[in-house]
Amino acid sequence: AQVVQAEFVKSSVRTEDCPSDGLPEFALVGRSNVGKSSLLNSLVRRKKLALTSKKPGKTQCINHFRINDSWYLVDLPGYGYAAAPQELRIDWHKFTKDYFLNRSTLVSVFLLIDASIPVKPIDLEYASWLGQNQIPMTLIFTKCDKRKKKKNGGKRPEENVQDFQELIRDFFQTVPPWIMTSSVTNQGRDEILLHMSQLRNY
Ligand code: GTP
Ligand code: MG
Repeated sequence: AQVVQAEFVKSSVRTEDCPSDGLPEFALVGRSNVGKSSLLNSLVRRKKLALTSKKPGKTQCINHFRINDSWYLVDLPGYGYAAAPQELRIDWHKFTKDYFLNRSTLVSVFLLIDASIPVKPIDLEYASWLGQNQIPMTLIFTKCDKRKKKKNGGKRPEENVQDFQELIRDFFQTVPPWIMTSSVTNQGRDEILLHMSQLRNY
């Protein structure tokens, strides 16, 4: 399941403009700054294939990365970036939602949740929107390397993960598959790649 080859293919803002070779793909989605681009780099073992930033709002297009010449990882703009002008924000939602609903080669969405902070209602909203639209999803908890801090609610990542799972059970009656990760320690990397290979082969 390891990545031996990874290459950036293209940036798109419309679903119609995405690659048309029919290879299966997985999309990394989540709040701005949750660590989508960092996770992609961790999965492919390259530091700067996807561009990352301390400032939220770095990724602004649908970015396709071809892996082992046989499937795609897709880096998407984050949601919930309050500092972006309102119109830009709505547009992100429009084109990413269009992508989720109409991209036929999308095997599963990987919804990233920051495990170093308390549950954010907007993450629950996104999870429920994906669920209502029957888009297969895996929960990826990020930043599990971070220690608990008073200013971040004073809970350990494991406790924040448990809180999120309890709340999401209200929407789904069950909890989607989930993996705890860190792009700093590469925790969860092999587990994600194995999960993706299993999803591709059914
Ligand atoms: P947008 O493209 O703006 O939506 O953000 P993104 O979700 O792609 O986040 P990005 O990967 O750019 O990371 C945002 C910040 O979080 C950067 O400063 C990263 O170094 C940091 N970060 C990402 N993943 C981790 C992690 O697992 N642990 C820690 N400690 N920091 C992380
Ligand atoms: Mg990004």
